[in-house]
This record gives sequence, C-alpha cells and structure tokens, in this order.
Amino acid sequence: MAPRSSIWLASCLSVSLSIATSPSNFGSSVTLLYQNNLNVTDDPNHVGFLMLDEFGENDAGAACEIFNEGLLPKSVIESHSADIISSLSYVAWAGRADLFQLYFIDEGVLGYNHLTQQLSFPQIIDPELKLPVLCTQSDTANTPGNAKATTTNQIQIASGKNTYVGFRNQKSFRFLGIPYANVPQRWVYSNLYSGTGQTINATEYGSQCAQGGSGSENCLFLNIQTPYIPLQGDTSDLRPVMFWIHGGGFTGGTGADQLSDGGNLASREDIVVVTINYRLSTLGFLAIPGTKITGNYGISDQITALEWVIENIASFGGDPNQITINGESAGASSVRVLLGSPPAIGKFQGAIAMSNLGGGVDLGINGDYATTYSSYDTANFSFSQAGQQIFQEAGCNQTVLADKITCLKAYPALKLVGLSTVARYVVQDGHYVNTEELNVVERNPGTAHVPVIFGIAANDGASFSTYPTTPVTTQLDGIVASLGVSNSTAQSIINSGLFPYHDTGNVTLDSFNVSQRIATDIQFRCIDQATMYAASQSDAFDSSYFYQIDRTINGYDPNNVGVAPKSAAFPNGNPKLPYFNVHGADMPFVLATLSTIRDPNDLFAQQVISGYFAEFVKSGQPNPSLSYLRARGYTKTIENAVTTGPWLEVQGTQGPIRRLDFPATADSFVDVPQCAFLNYSLSYYLDGGK
Ligand SMILES: *[C@@H]1O[C@H](CO)[C@@H](O)[C@H](O)[C@H]1NC(C)=O
Ligand SMILES: *[C@@H]1O[C@H](CO)[C@@H](O)[C@H](O)[C@H]1NC(C)=O
Ligand SMILES: *[C@@H]1O[C@H](CO)[C@@H](O)[C@H](O)[C@H]1NC(C)=O
Ligand SMILES: *[C@@H]1O[C@H](CO)[C@@H](O)[C@H](O)[C@H]1NC(C)=O
Ligand SMILES: *[C@@H]1O[C@H](CO)[C@@H](O)[C@H](O)[C@H]1NC(C)=O
Ligand SMILES: *[C@@H]1O[C@H](CO)[C@@H](O)[C@H](O)[C@H]1NC(C)=O
Ligand SMILES: *[C@@H]1O[C@H](CO)[C@@H](O)[C@H](O)[C@H]1NC(C)=O
Ligand SMILES: *[C@@H]1O[C@H](CO)[C@@H](O)[C@H](O)[C@H]1NC(C)=O
Repeated sequence: MAPRSSIWLASCLSVSLSIATSPSNFGSSVTLLYQNNLNVTDDPNHVGFLMLDEFGENDAGAACEIFNEGLLPKSVIESHSADIISSLSYVAWAGRADLFQLYFIDEGVLGYNHLTQQLSFPQIIDPELKLPVLCTQSDTANTPGNAKATTTNQIQIASGKNTYVGFRNQKSFRFLGIPYANVPQRWVYSNLYSGTGQTINATEYGSQCAQGGSGSENCLFLNIQTPYIPLQGDTSDLRPVMFWIHGGGFTGGTGADQLSDGGNLASREDIVVVTINYRLSTLGFLAIPGTKITGNYGISDQITALEWVIENIASFGGDPNQITINGESAGASSVRVLLGSPPAIGKFQGAIAMSNLGGGVDLGINGDYATTYSSYDTANFSFSQAGQQIFQEAGCNQTVLADKITCLKAYPALKLVGLSTVARYVVQDGHYVNTEELNVVERNPGTAHVPVIFGIAANDGASFSTYPTTPVTTQLDGIVASLGVSNSTAQSIINSGLFPYHDTGNVTLDSFNVSQRIATDIQFRCIDQATMYAASQSDAFDSSYFYQIDRTINGYDPNNVGVAPKSAAFPNGNPKLPYFNVHGADMPFVLATLSTIRDPNDLFAQQVISGYFAEFVKSGQPNPSLSYLRARGYTKTIENAVTTGPWLEVQGTQGPIRRLDFPATADSFVDVPQCAFLNYSLSYYLDGGK
C-alpha cells in the first residue's frame, strides 16, 4: 500500500488547491461504508464514513479534505460504535484489513480487533507509520429522490479516454446519465460511445427513451451506483456487478426508475449496480423484411451497454468478469433473449429473469399476449402485426417501400411511439436472435452456460386478467369474465380439478383467484418453471434456480387487487391478510428499494430476499454464508431465517422448488405450486418441441 501513498503525495498534495475542488480517485481508492439496515426511516440514526488508502499521520487530514470531509471523530465512532464495528468487521472479513487493524482518525488512531469485534483508541506516536484513513461522510441524502450533486459531494474519475463527474450520498457513489453509446440513428444498431477527452457530467439522469409522450431518441444512457472507487488503474478487489434491464413491455420504462436504484444494494451488499436505458417501441423493435431494418435495436442497445460496462466498470469499482444481467418483465424477457444471443454470450457471467412472460406456442397451447416475449416472431410476422399499419397511421402512404421508409424516418419520435400500432416484438433477425426460442433442450454453444434464476411473483397473472366489473354469482361466470374464454372452456377448466376453488364466500373474488392462477400459469409460471426444469435436466445452464415471491407491495395493478387490506393499525395494508402478489410488486424486495414498511416482516423479507439475489450476483448461487452475515452484523437476518435448522436455502431445480415465505419457519418452507401444465410443457421442451 505504501507506493499508493507516495503517488498520492506526489501527484495530488502538491496541487491540493485545484484537486480540492475536484476530488478524484487519482491518489487513493475510496470506499463508502454505510451500515444499511434498509429501513429508510432509520437512516437519520446512522452515519457512514469513507475509507482511504494508507497515509502518514500528517497527510491523513488533507486526504479527507480532498473529499470535503474531515477525519472521523472519536465522538462519532463512540456514538455509532455498532455501525462502525459492523463495517470494519466486514472490511476484515473481506480480507481488506488485518485481523487487528489500525486506522487514522481525528486526532489519533482507531484500533479494530476482528477476533473480539472491539474498538480501541491506542496512543501511537510514530511519524513513519502509514495507516488507512477514515473520513467523515456527511452527505445525508438517503434516497434517489433527494440525492443531489453539490459542490462538496462530487467525485471525478477517469475511465478510458474520458473523465466522469459523479457524486455521493449517504449510501453510495452515484454516476448518472452516462452516455454508453453514440446518439443512435433511427433503425441503426448502436455503437459504443466514441467521445474522447470529455468530462462527462454524470450527476443527472439522461433522457428516457421515447415513450408515452416524453423522452427522446438520444437516450442511450446508463447509471451506476457503487460502494467503491479504486485507485486509478488498480483492478484488484473489484466488486461484482448487477446489470439491470428494466421492464415496461418493450414500450416503456427507464433505468432511472427509483425502484431499481442501486444505492441500497451497493451499501448493504457491496456490489456495483448498473441500470440502463434501451430503445423502445417502434424505435427499438421495428423490423421490415427485405430491408436493412432488421429489428431488435433495443436488444443491440443492451449489448452495447454491456460492452461499455466491460470496458469501463473497473474504474467504478466493478468487476468486468463478474456481471450478472437481471431484469423484470420485458427486462426478464430481454435476459432470456441475451441468454441465447450470440453477440451477448460471454459478456455476462450470470442471469436473473424476474417474471418473464411466455406461453402459448411454447406450451403447445394457443398463443396469447405473453407468447411473443419468449417465442420470437419472424420479421415477416412482426411486420404483419406492426408494419403497414404504422406506415398508414403515420401517413407514409407512398407506393414504393423505400419512400415509405424515408417518410417514417422523418416522422417525429414521440408521435411514432404514440401511434395506435407500435412494433415491440423481438424478432429472429439472424444475428442477435437466430432461433425461435431459447434452446434449453440440450447444452449447446448458442445458450450461455451460466448460473441462472427464473422466478415469479406468486400472482403475476392477476395483473393480466380482468376483475369482473359487476359481481358474479358462479365460478363459471367469473372465469368467463376474467379470462374472456367461452363457457365451455371455463367449464373444462373447472372440471380439470387443476385449479382448486378457495372459498371465502365472495364468489367474485374467489373465481378471480382461480382465474389469476390460470393466467399466472399460462403467462409466467409454466414457461419459467419449464425453462428451469428442462435446463436442470439438460445442463443447458451452469445451474438453474426457480423462486416464487409471495410478499409484495404495489406493482402493476390494473385490477386494484395488489394492496393488502388496510385498517387503522395498518394504514399501508396488513400483509398478513390475503392480497394478490401482482406483477412487478416483488421488485422493492429484490432490489432493496422498499420505501413503505407495513410490518416488521416487510423489512426482514426485504433484507433476506435482496440478500439472496445479491449473493447470486457475487457467487452464482443464492445462499449467503453465515460467516458473511455474521461479519456484516446482519444478525436479524440470521435470527429470523435460521429459526429451526440450517440457513434457509433456495433450492436448485434438481431438488424441490421452494418458495420464499416470511417469516421463514419450517412450516412456511413449502413447495411452490407447480405449473398446472408443467408435465406437458416439460415434455415439450425435452422432446425438442415435438
Ligand atoms: C452538471 O449538470 C447539472 C444538471 O444539468 C448542472 O446543474 C451542473 O451545473 C453541471 N455541472 C457541471 C460541472 O457542468
Ligand atoms: C417473407 O415474406 C415475403 C413476402 O411476403 C416472402 O417472399 C418471404 O419468403 C418471406 N420470408 C420468410 C422467411 O418467410
Ligand atoms: C397520404 O397521407 C397524407 C398525409 O400525410 C394524406 O394527405 C393523403 O391523403 C394520403 N393519401 C392516401 C392515398 O391515403
Ligand atoms: C354461459 O353461461 C351463462 C350461465 O352461467 C349463460 O347465462 C350464458 O348465456 C352462457 N353463454 C353462452 C354463450 O352460452
Ligand atoms: C369481494 O371482494 C372484493 C375484492 O376484495 C371486494 O371489493 C368486494 O366488496 C367483495 N364483495 C363482497 C360481497 O364482499
Ligand atoms: C387465493 O387462493 C389461495 C388458495 O389457493 C389463498 O391462499 C389466498 O388467500 C387467496 N387469495 C385471496 C386474495 O383471497
Ligand atoms: C425503522 O426505523 C424506525 C426509526 O428508527 C423505527 O421506529 C422502526 O421500528 C423501524 N422499523 C423496523 C421494522 O425495524
Ligand atoms: C406429472 O408427471 C408425474 C411423473 O412424472 C406424475 O406423477 C404426475 O401425476 C403428473 N401430473 C399430471 C398433472 O399429469
């Protein structure tokens, strides 16, 4: 560590005035440590701190000043000793400090003994001594909404041929609105940002991609939240990366969504989170057969973003060789596409698909809304759905195709994505996508052989079926109203016995409960379980995990059935009472962005669930080690999860499928319901679709 300090002294302190206004990683690594219990209302009771590389006593204060901070005072350490101990304990556990480690703090030295987990303030007078430095971290903004760059919290880092200015808040370093690609031309594949010598102001989100009346075509931005900025050029000790692909039906969404903000995961789990924008709707997915407009522009953007991350993320503390792609809904479908996309394979090391849609032809039954998310159209078919209609609606009614295209290229972006017909289908373009569906029938070079998780929110289908507008008196009428099927189909569903009726005395509710289960199975559970089952048998992936989450909040809820019943004691809903776990409502638990805590189990569930997913990002399997949890002081997690026996495990599909239920007790540790058509869909997969 000594050489780092001398580089720092030579290159920085001598020009400390200019550097002081522009803190950078040129002279030291900087780690933001914050003991994050994920309880947002508790944030004011906690302080974090910055940890720098080794300096001599005389330079330690100046090193903190570069970040507009001071040396960490003894009084703060004493008043927040539990947090400080947990943070330093993790530093030691991670091998980033000795078992007995000294640090420079304000007016002295702090000792931390990892064996006894005790702090001390030894008197050490040694002008030669160099120690890691602990500085205050005084920015108290604790959410994506209140986090703002100021003159005192900025940080500047160099990566590639450019410099990036970001900032920190209470929980992480934040770099927002980084252009990862050049401004894309309409219906041309994106390429890596080629600017050089730029100082990129990464303190505000970039524009979202054109959608629903706002956004722009200049939208290929990504955002980074990181707990660690290495010394410039140092590639040791990099953190695993979660690469988040947002959902929104391939027509909406943005990487700036607060639900996917990585600040909590960065501090709680010590990983780097990247969230991206990609082109949407007709701008992202138009395919015109026989032309150069071959589709999948949004997918190409995702891969370009991956390439940017591989080239640059080390400068932001992330490991370019340990990237897990993770997405929800259309983001999960994107993950599924990337798992089988030749240009993407090799660019990530793990994959998580949350509530991927599929169904219909994949399962040997008729297609429906969800089908195209997992079964890719030909360009011809896509064009038949969203081709001539778009030309016509845009008034591009020239006779020659080339003229129509010229016309459409000039059509305003927001109007284009606002037409009643839009293209939003992943197509078999022969390059990004060259199969009709992901091949999990056998291990093969066209399918990324990485650890994979697919899973669902327990009632995903409740968002994609209709709660009867007028009360019904029979289950049959309810199913007909909710699913829009014929009486005889509804009757055969009832006769099959596959979907038991749960009788609460409210027929409308109870028949909807049956309908949503059918919708969940057809559009989510079957495709995702079958994918995991088949892959676990064929070895198509390195490993395969399935989950079902049955504690959720908010989400996509057109039927207004996703809110737990409210009462005076539970103004935000009582999650112990029945409610539906709708689409997208699991995101705050997975990404640790829960802003409303209805009961203590919400907090516990968030801690455990986000811990599983973060562990998968780190090690390719979802069960954190007890030694890690102990070192981090996540004792509540252990207490609640290990009530009876070993650490709660998420099973691979070789074993029984389990659900995550809270509080986790032996009783609640039960098998998830299996897709009612699983036998059929599984044999369909394993027989190669015959
Ligand atoms: C960065 O962008 C923000 C938002 O546009 C602006 O307020 C700020 O002044 C910019 N900073 C610099 C150094 O240009
Ligand atoms: C697409 O449609 C065109 C014209 O309708 C036809 O000539 C071509 O063979 C079709 N391509 C495929 C792959 O089906
Ligand atoms: C073609 O579109 C234009 C509007 O852009 C309209 O004025 C014209 O009537 C249309 N022609 C036909 C034949 O539909
Ligand atoms: C379906 O069944 C309901 C009674 O449950 C009946 O009123 C309705 O006419 C039937 N619809 C058709 C198309 O048979
Ligand atoms: C049935 O349940 C729904 C949804 O909770 C509720 O809106 C409705 O009032 C209930 N109907 C009756 C008759 O209790
Ligand atoms: C739906 O049915 C299941 C049993 O299949 C039951 O556990 C759950 O409470 C029901 N949901 C509601 C909202 O009534
Ligand atoms: C969250 O923090 C607040 C403020 O410290 C506290 O009152 C509350 O009990 C905490 N919630 C849980 C579930 O621990
Ligand atoms: C599915 O297959 C298993 C054995 O492979 C069998 O025990 C089970 O009954 C089957 N389920 C259905 C619904 O056919």
